[in-house]
Amino acid sequence: MTKQINLDNITIFVEDDLHSVARRAADVFAAVLTAAPAGTYGFATGSTPVGMYQELIARYRADELDFGGITAFNLDEYYPIAKSNDQSYEHFMKTQLFDHINVSKDNIDIPNGEAIDPEAECMRYEKAIRANANNFELQVLGIGENGHIGFNEPTDHFPAHTNYVELDKSTINANARFFDAVDDVPKHALTMGVGTIMMAKRVLLVATGFKKSDVICQTLLGAINPCISASALQMHRDVTVVLDADAACALLAQL
Ligand code: F6R
Repeated sequence: MTKQINLDNITIFVEDDLHSVARRAADVFAAVLTAAPAGTYGFATGSTPVGMYQELIARYRADELDFGGITAFNLDEYYPIAKSNDQSYEHFMKTQLFDHINVSKDNIDIPNGEAIDPEAECMRYEKAIRANANNFELQVLGIGENGHIGFNEPTDHFPAHTNYVELDKSTINANARFFDAVDDVPKHALTMGVGTIMMAKRVLLVATGFKKSDVICQTLLGAINPCISASALQMHRDVTVVLDADAACALLAQL
């Protein structure tokens, strides 16, 4: 049975299993999309949103959703990485979602892991998102075990803009599961900043599994601290968090 918890600006759903997480997250996305079919949407990669993307594809095929008017941005991309590399986030977004829905290819922007100058690419990307800021309807997020959103790794400040980052050792190790060897994981990335993410009118954060339990509790109930960049979401006006029971267990023990 779904448990719903309302903090001031944050609504938390705790679902029994991964299938219900995917459905709930898709419900949240679909409600925003239906209300704002020409809006700007920010997407995430990683294993967490895959189930939600499958639900969205199924609802598109059932004629329940129309992505034809949206503008799509992506949270982040490894750097450097070829777009054709099957571990690039460009490839992920195409295969997991964009190739299966009617989003216009001209309205998709993903940080360019092939750019010659990563700092210049960050500036281009931030400018492109800011040009769409007034209809930036929803940002989808997963969370790292170290509390990162996007690739905003633990540091002493909340990055305001899209930035070029060195990945944390823990992130490289966590993402090694997608590569042949840990040494193949790129050491850097281009990521929306925390400030970029905070521009979205709504945020949908999804987390599953015991490994995320402690960091979810700290994110939602702990101090707002750039060592856990997700904790900035406590200051956002409209956040929905969808968890499975495993990811919620430390949080539920505190409430
Ligand atoms: C992905 C991203 C990351 C992931 C996070 C969790 O675009 O920006 O913050 O959301 O690392 O990854 P998974 O879902 O694989 O546990």
